[in-house]
Amino acid sequence: MADQYAQSGEDNRPTEIPAIRWEEPPEGPVLVLLDQTRLPAEEVELVCTDAPALVEAIRSLAVRGAPLLGIAGAYGVALAAARGFDVDDAALALAGARPTAVNLAVGVRRAQAAYRAELAKSGDAGEAAVAALAAARALHREDAEASARMAERGLALLDELLPGGGHRILTHCNTGSLVSGGEGTAFAVALAAQRAGRLRRLWVDETRPLLQGARLTAYEAARTGMAYTLLTDNAAGSLFAAGEVDAVLIGADRIAADGSVANKVGSYPLAVLARYHHVPFIVVAPLTTVDPDTPDGASIEVEQRAGFEVTEVAVPQAPVTGAGGGVPVAPLGTQAYNPAFDVTPPELVTAIVTEEGTVSPVTAEALAELCGRARQV
Ligand code: MRU
Repeated sequence: MADQYAQSGEDNRPTEIPAIRWEEPPEGPVLVLLDQTRLPAEEVELVCTDAPALVEAIRSLAVRGAPLLGIAGAYGVALAAARGFDVDDAALALAGARPTAVNLAVGVRRAQAAYRAELAKSGDAGEAAVAALAAARALHREDAEASARMAERGLALLDELLPGGGHRILTHCNTGSLVSGGEGTAFAVALAAQRAGRLRRLWVDETRPLLQGARLTAYEAARTGMAYTLLTDNAAGSLFAAGEVDAVLIGADRIAADGSVANKVGSYPLAVLARYHHVPFIVVAPLTTVDPDTPDGASIEVEQRAGFEVTEVAVPQAPVTGAGGGVPVAPLGTQAYNPAFDVTPPELVTAIVTEEGTVSPVTAEALAELCGRARQV
């Protein structure tokens, strides 16, 4: 049945898309972002010269996805330091730009700690700025390494759970090189399966309201020549019922100590569907996404976003008429419920794959042990 859903496109451009980079032109250091709000229509770069510009880019989702938010936050602190702004003010604003992905605060704190430590040692703000940048670069590099290791572990798990090969994987939101220093989290596993000749199809949820699946995952899948098919979020149920999904692979924005997983809204319904249809539901995330200080799912702050993201559809090049710049699809004044994330309880998660190991079944003890082991390395 799957083959009737024809390949949506092939593109031989490089698979690595630099979502973020640090540059030092004569006018002073800048952080250059690939503006993800403009994809796939246009590949436009956004140049941030200070932390407030980066905070705005984070809020508008020009830069997004948990691991990349961590990297961006760290570079943001380095940028404030290098340009002589107040580093603690910048760190506070950056860490608070979005609440759910814990990676953001982790990245900010890491660069801030490096800055403070060097300042305390040498008393030289210039040296401290260099230390903050080194911390950001290290996080960027480590995330790329983590990505490669998660891909390897994730593929091994898929092969173990689905010994026949020919995996048909359903994914939600966007988890590729647009969110990572490397090839991503869940998407990197799909890519590894494709390279090993074991991916039959990637089912891509469009991911309403902001269409990260349609705009970004399809964009990344097309670049790799992957067999992918886009579906509306509402179509996932009938796809499971038709027996067309072998596994669900998603990323995470925060994993609580008990193994609860916050990810893009729409992930939890997929976990319920997967359980009903006896399909593995696999979460792929770096250890920077695991937050031992958040005890359980109920303690995760879920970002609530503006209602216009639901009542309007932002279509690049369409006439701008709505309050948010999009085309209205609901009567003026309609109230909207728009949580950006939902939380999947650990009992619905088959496995959590990290760069340091895979936890399955998902329990607080197993997760704590993995984090403890990783800290000792
Ligand atoms: O609101 P976004 O686009 O930042 O949400 C991103 C997601 O939910 C991703 O699935 C998550 O960050 C994991 S990416 C590795």
